Amino acid sequence: MGRVENKACIVTGAGSGIGRATALRLADEGGKVIVSDINFESAEKVSADIKKFGGIAIAHKTDVSDYVQCEDLINTCVSEFGTVHVVINSAGVNIPGVFHEFKNEVIDKTLNVNLKGSMYTCRAAIPHMLKHKNGSIVNISSVNGIVSEPFLTVYSASKGGVVMLTKGIALDYAKQGIRCNAICPGWVDTPINYAHAEMMGGLEKIYKEIGNFQPIGRPGEPVEIAHLALFLASDEASFMTGSIVSADGGMTAQ
Ligand SMILES: NC(=O)c1ccc[n+]([C@@H]2O[C@H](COP(=O)([O-])OP(=O)(O)OC[C@H]3O[C@@H](n4cnc5c(N)ncnc54)[C@H](O)[C@@H]3O)[C@@H](O)[C@H]2O)c1
Repeated sequence: MGRVENKACIVTGAGSGIGRATALRLADEGGKVIVSDINFESAEKVSADIKKFGGIAIAHKTDVSDYVQCEDLINTCVSEFGTVHVVINSAGVNIPGVFHEFKNEVIDKTLNVNLKGSMYTCRAAIPHMLKHKNGSIVNISSVNGIVSEPFLTVYSASKGGVVMLTKGIALDYAKQGIRCNAICPGWVDTPINYAHAEMMGGLEKIYKEIGNFQPIGRPGEPVEIAHLALFLASDEASFMTGSIVSADGGMTAQ
């Protein structure tokens, strides 16, 4: 038996990075996975990778900033797999900048994808979870949901919102079998960081000096976050809800 055997799982932003690694881990542990991403081609690739090792996966094109598409995502999971047991909200954008120069479009996009996207998927999934009084939601926030950094004010505000969304859902449904937890990753080696790295002097420089802000002295790997997401999604984490768990190479221990 896998650790999420036969559970109907949805992973947003699953075409790349942390979402991709999480979709693969869930499928490897027996989960049936809807691989969702705004980039359908990448979602299809991940879905094909899962099928290659005998796992169950369906690719879905979802722009999580559109609540209609989020509802379609949840409905697809219900029609294909019967219900929804697990939602992992990993879709995200990180557009760095000097705060007073941010355009409205960037502020809207950041909040719409990172915060409202997670709200929309949770809102659509919970009625199905309530039917069987069982569900696990894992929101990928960020260390920037707890502490900020130069050029990341808007991103940090969106991720702080995800922390409070997580706590709110946890309290609202604690007695109804639905758990909701958040992960706050430190610097993980994925494309979402490239623009921020550019503003900070380039990826090579950042990785040379990473020990200055991430004590473990290296970037995280997506699978290191995926292991934690799998645990929180599974029944092994049955006593955890409303938890904000850092996986950051010691960054927020300082
Ligand atoms: N990589 C890090 O250092 C780090 C640190 C902390 C938190 N995070 C968070 O982890 C999550 C995953 O990021 P990642 O590191 O895997 O980056 P990534 O760039 O590898 O993956 C992000 C994915 O989200 C998708 N996406 C973007 N906009 C979308 C939309 N509107 N609808 C649906 N999908 C959309 C992208 O197509 C991409 O596949 C994000 O929420 C990010 O904020 C990442």
